[in-house]
Amino acid sequence: MRAFFTVAGLALVLAGCSGAKPEESGASEQAAAPEVSAAPVAYASLTGDAAKGEKLFMQCKACHAIEPGKNIIGPSLHGVVGRTAGQVPGFNYSPANKASGEVWSEDHLYAFIEAPQKVIPGTRMAYFGMRKPQDRADLIAYLKTVK
Ligand code: HEC
Repeated sequence: MRAFFTVAGLALVLAGCSGAKPEESGASEQAAAPEVSAAPVAYASLTGDAAKGEKLFMQCKACHAIEPGKNIIGPSLHGVVGRTAGQVPGFNYSPANKASGEVWSEDHLYAFIEAPQKVIPGTRMAYFGMRKPQDRADLIAYLKTVK
């Protein structure tokens, strides 16, 4: 019995060690991230997966409904792709959003979702941003299906 526990304990220790390695390399990748972001991934080079995007929309759901006419903390995102910024009736936008006058093209959304405050300084959208280019492409593929 004791031998069994010793072996099991050893296995745990080994599993712990091998588990630590990917984390270490992950940390060094993160340290190199500023250089990577100097060469952004072009939206046109990505193919979005709407099914994955629907799951990622969970991150937006706290503030945005996908149903038309339903505003929560943010405006409904029904049919947002191709819409001009600041146009959802009954939603009280920030002056920054309204004044941007931008059309929510796929490219523009791709940049905005990564860093809302950078694209529209002064926006009230308090969201930290979705870093992974593929995730943003998937999310946009989903948003395109909701018209
Ligand atoms: C913490 C709440 C919050 C979260 C989370 C959030 N948003 Fe927003 N969003 C807002 C608010 C508030 C506005 C209105 C901004 C303004 O008026 O400045 C907004 C505005 C927008 C707009 C502009 C809409 C228009 O009609 O001009 C888009 C596009 C948008 N959000 C997309 C997203 C997406 C996609 C996500 C998920 C990745 C997301 N948001 C997550 C709160 C949020």
